[in-house]
Amino acid sequence: MSTVKEKLIENLIGEEKISQSKITIVGTGAVGMACAICILLKDLADELALVDVAVDKLKGETMDLQHGSLFFNTPKITSGKDYSVSANSKLVIVTAGARQQEGESRLALVQRNVNIMKSIIPTIVHHSPDCKMLIVSNPVDILTYVVWKLSGLPATRVIGSGCNLDSARFRYLIGEKLGVHPTSCHGWIIGEHGDSSVPLWSGVNVAGVALKSLDPKLGTDSDKDQWKNIHKQVIDSGYQIIKLKGYTSWAIGLSVTDLVGSILKNLRRVHPVSTMVKGLYGLKEEIFLSIPCVLGQNGISDIVKVNLNSEEEALFKKSADILWNIQKELVF
Ligand SMILES: NC(=O)c1ccc[n+]([C@@H]2O[C@H](COP(=O)([O-])OP(=O)(O)OC[C@H]3O[C@@H](n4cnc5c(N)ncnc54)[C@H](O)[C@@H]3O)[C@@H](O)[C@H]2O)c1
Repeated sequence: MSTVKEKLIENLIGEEKISQSKITIVGTGAVGMACAICILLKDLADELALVDVAVDKLKGETMDLQHGSLFFNTPKITSGKDYSVSANSKLVIVTAGARQQEGESRLALVQRNVNIMKSIIPTIVHHSPDCKMLIVSNPVDILTYVVWKLSGLPATRVIGSGCNLDSARFRYLIGEKLGVHPTSCHGWIIGEHGDSSVPLWSGVNVAGVALKSLDPKLGTDSDKDQWKNIHKQVIDSGYQIIKLKGYTSWAIGLSVTDLVGSILKNLRRVHPVSTMVKGLYGLKEEIFLSIPCVLGQNGISDIVKVNLNSEEEALFKKSADILWNIQKELVF
């Protein structure tokens, strides 16, 4: 007796089961799920796998996304506590871990999240030895270093989301001040994702017109327009949103998805992401900090050599010192 399916459909060829652009998200909290929905809406993957230790939440989130399948073009959404579900991923996005409490700095989270990385990274690499990894969990620069060490992958394939979000916030705020859309306001924040990040005022421009050429004091204490406050707002905004809604999610989800697009579509766009900066600007330690990087199918293929002025270089080195003082004490 044939089933309805057999009566309706005649199979001609065996189904190709291997996904070509599979993405795994580890951690299905606020950040992981914001990344998931943005990735689905942008059609960046042919399979999305979700992994978390909280199995009920994981199942609920998975079902909720699957029921939206009519409205996006990712045919397979899978999930599980076991990392076998992540096998054959092109990209693994790590958002697992504790998040900041109100008023807590990103750096204070460190040992808790290092322990989580220890428990998950070797298994991820075992199942997807050729993947790229995009680290989002905080403190993101230190954890990207830790994941690089734990994974055994080349540094070019272990990318920290770094200052991609900080720079997006910077451009939004510049845009608000000028009444121009952020895509037309160019500006970069490098260094640590967090309190010691470095705004590159010398590069801030609209249509190639450097704002500093209009006011050489731009970004300094003696600037009467107080552009410096914009960087202060960038630093404070994470704390402020956590105070107001308990966590941050949408902007990080969107900014991570922008990175995912560059990687999976091999766009070779330049993003401020966290990478190994030993040897740059005289840095001697194995530190991960954000600098402009070319992102494509192999991860970070190139870096852009930014000419920092002496003040910017000093701030960048200070960012490195702050991270190194924490990183050198880590046990993993
Ligand atoms: N880099 C950035 O710009 C940025 C921005 C926002 C948040 N974050 C960071 O992202 C991380 C996640 O934030 P959130 O708000 O989604 O937190 P959350 O508490 O909502 O979610 C974290 C998830 O990780 C899971 N988890 C914990 N241990 C795990 C393990 N061993 N294996 C698998 N999953 C595990 C939890 O069950 C939870 O679902 C935090 O570290 C946060 O600070 C980074």
